[in-house]
Amino acid sequence: MKKVLVSGGCGYIGSHTIVDLIDRGYEVISADNLVNAEETILDGIEAITGVRVKNYRVDLADRVACAELFAAHRDIMGVIHFAALKSVGESVEKPILYFRNNLNSLLNILEACEKHNIENFIFSSSCSVYGNTDALPVVESTPWQEAESAYARTKQMGEQIIRDVYRSLSSGKAILLRYFNPAGGHESGLIGESPTSNVTNLVPVITETAIGKRKSMTVFGNDYDTRDGSCIRDYIHVMDLARAHTLCLDYLDANKQQEQVEVFNVGLGEGATVLEAINAFEKVSGQKLNYDIGPRRAGDVVAIYANHQRATDRLGWTPSRNIEDIMRTAWEWEKRRSG
Ligand code: WQD
Repeated sequence: MKKVLVSGGCGYIGSHTIVDLIDRGYEVISADNLVNAEETILDGIEAITGVRVKNYRVDLADRVACAELFAAHRDIMGVIHFAALKSVGESVEKPILYFRNNLNSLLNILEACEKHNIENFIFSSSCSVYGNTDALPVVESTPWQEAESAYARTKQMGEQIIRDVYRSLSSGKAILLRYFNPAGGHESGLIGESPTSNVTNLVPVITETAIGKRKSMTVFGNDYDTRDGSCIRDYIHVMDLARAHTLCLDYLDANKQQEQVEVFNVGLGEGATVLEAINAFEKVSGQKLNYDIGPRRAGDVVAIYANHQRATDRLGWTPSRNIEDIMRTAWEWEKRRSG
């Protein structure tokens, strides 16, 4: 079997991608330091796939530890690099932590891929590289605006580092996947979004409020220039996002790559406002949500949603789940993990 290293494999998107990789016949190992994840997610992966994935508890920002991990696995055909800190709000308060962690881990992995001639590299980038753009929906060539947070800046810099590194190499191919707002959980309800640090993303805040872990939640601003005043985001189901990664690996392995480094938007292609997302949750759960309207949050962009045509044309990727599927699976997961 073709062996893939997934960094951040115990994390939200990493764990769901591992399920899809196994379903598509790949052998997977994970490297995750568990700073924002728990190894118990591997039990869920095993329950779904029947495969016990091994996680190597390694801080990939540690150059020696990262090098040792790769030296011990010389049969890897590809790397999917998820491991990073990703809270927009936290990165505004702790920029140095974000630059050190997200960039050092990327540099160490790129160095290891070059040393061991690992041909295929997929990078977890983000729609946040576009900044506050009014050119919507964004396409991959949409010019970047100023990064609104250190998190977004680490993704902009990460993409530029990868381009420069691969330009210097005679072989090797990379794909940059720009995620929009990943949300939801596996249909089985056995895995889902379960950050260990403070939950800041909208969908888990909604489900934690609905289950009673929070008394209420706040909508960060309803005075934006949008159809109902709240921010617009492109919520993409995590299993659709997972499939995009597996299709990228198939694409790279089949040498279908058109350029040494290729970029793809991975979003549903539709925008939903915060209030529309809340309404979708109330519809599928049958529960009224207790929320209030509060001030805007620093670092938020007003609206962002994707044109994903390139991923459809080149990877054959088409998302099949909508905001109601997201809310239904997120709610199932919340009820199971809080039960
Ligand atoms: C979404 C909207 C908030 C919480 C995320 C990821 C980031 C990146 C981009 C992939 C905003 C509003 C939220 C709450 C609210 N993804 N909100 N009340 O900031 O778009 O960033 O997508 O790389 O990693 O974090 O996501 O879910 O925090 O916010 O009103 O309690 O919901 O203001 O408009 P964001 P989010």
